[in-house]
Amino acid sequence: MSLFDVYPLNNITITKAKGSYVWDENGMQYLDMYGGHAVISIGHTHPHWVKRIEDQLEKIAFYSNSIIIPIQKELADKLGKVSGKNDYQLFLCNSGAEANENALKLASFHTGKKKIIAFSKGFHGRTSLAVAATDNQSIVAPVNETDNVIFLPFNDVGALEECFSKNGNTIAGVIVEGIQGVGGINVASDVFLQSIRTMCDKHNAVYIADSVQCGYGRSGKFFSHDYAAVNADIYTMAKGMGNGFPIGGILISPHIKPKYGMLGTTFGGNHLACAAALAVLEVIEQDKLIESANELGTYLINRLIAIESIQNVRGKGLMIGFDVPNDLKDLKKKLLFEYKVFTGESKPNVIRLLPSLSISKEQIDKFLERLSLAIKEINA
Ligand SMILES: Cc1ncc(COP(=O)(O)O)c(C=O)c1O
Repeated sequence: MSLFDVYPLNNITITKAKGSYVWDENGMQYLDMYGGHAVISIGHTHPHWVKRIEDQLEKIAFYSNSIIIPIQKELADKLGKVSGKNDYQLFLCNSGAEANENALKLASFHTGKKKIIAFSKGFHGRTSLAVAATDNQSIVAPVNETDNVIFLPFNDVGALEECFSKNGNTIAGVIVEGIQGVGGINVASDVFLQSIRTMCDKHNAVYIADSVQCGYGRSGKFFSHDYAAVNADIYTMAKGMGNGFPIGGILISPHIKPKYGMLGTTFGGNHLACAAALAVLEVIEQDKLIESANELGTYLINRLIAIESIQNVRGKGLMIGFDVPNDLKDLKKKLLFEYKVFTGESKPNVIRLLPSLSISKEQIDKFLERLSLAIKEINA
C-alpha cells in the first residue's frame, strides 16, 4: 500500500534524537532549530519525559473518559500553577485543530451566537470550523465553506471595532494567534489584543487565544498573550504540550460553564498522554525553560539583527522569523543539506526558528556560525 502523498518531503530519514540534535540513518548529526514544527519543547527524548511515559505504560496506557482518571487532575493543577491560570478549567483533546474546533464550538454554545472573527494570515488547523477560520482558501474544502467566519486584517484595531459595532450581536468569538506562526511570525500588538478583550467584553463574545504554536513558554511567557496583560476566555494548546506525544487541550475561563455531553473525545486525556504532558511541565518548571526562552531568544534575535543580508528579524522568545531576500532563496535548503541545520519556513521568503526551549547558548552560537557561513557562501 502506498502512503497518501500530501507532504513534500526532504530526502532525510531521522532515526535518533537527543536534546536539540537529530541523527539520520547514516549517523549524520543535524542541529534542530525547527523542533519538528514547534513541537519539541523540552528537548528530544528528554530522560525525565521518557521515564514518566515508560512508568505510566507499565501501569495503564488508556481508559476512556467514563471513569475517574486522577492524572488528568494532576495535569490540570500543574498547568494552572505553571501558566498562572489557576482558576481556569481544562478540557483535554489530541491536537491543535481539535483544540480550536472545541474552543470555537464552546464560544458558540456559550453565547448562543454563530459568527467568528478570524484574521488575515491566521492558521488554526484543518478540521471543519478551524480550517474555515484559516486564511488559506487552498485548504478549505467546499463542505467547509461557511458564512459564519468574518476575516479582518491582523493588528487593525479600527477594522475590529467597526466590525463589532456593525455585527456585535451575532459574534460568538474572536480567534487570534498571539504570534502568527504559519503566517510568517507576525506578532500581535499589545493594543490589538487589548482591544479584542474590550470588544469581547462589550459585545458578549469569547476571546480565543490560539496558543497552539506560540504558547507553552515558547514566547518567553507561558502564553504570548500575557505580554499584553490580558486574559483570554479560552486558550488553545497542543504542539509543545507533549514534546512530541500527541496531546492538545483548552483552558477555559471560570465564567464559561460546562454541561454533560457538551464536548467529548475518546482519546483526549488518556493516561499516557497526561504522563507525557506532566513530564513536560515538570521539566519546564525545574529547568526554568520559560526564563531561558526569553533570555536566549533575545540574544538570538539581537545577533540575527546584526546580520546585514537578512531582513525584518521579528518574534519573541524562541519563536523567531526573518525575511530572506531573493538572492538568498536557497538558504534554507543549503542550511539543511550542507550545514546540517533544520529550520522552518513560511512561504514565500520567511525562515522560522522554533528550537527546543532547552537549547543552549553554545548551540545557538553554532547555528549563527553556520548561518553566517551559508550566507557568505551564497553571496560569494
Ligand atoms: C497556531 C496553530 N493553530 C492550530 C494548528 C493546528 O494544529 P494541529 O496540526 O496539531 O492540528 C497549528 C499547526 O501548525 C498552528 O500553528
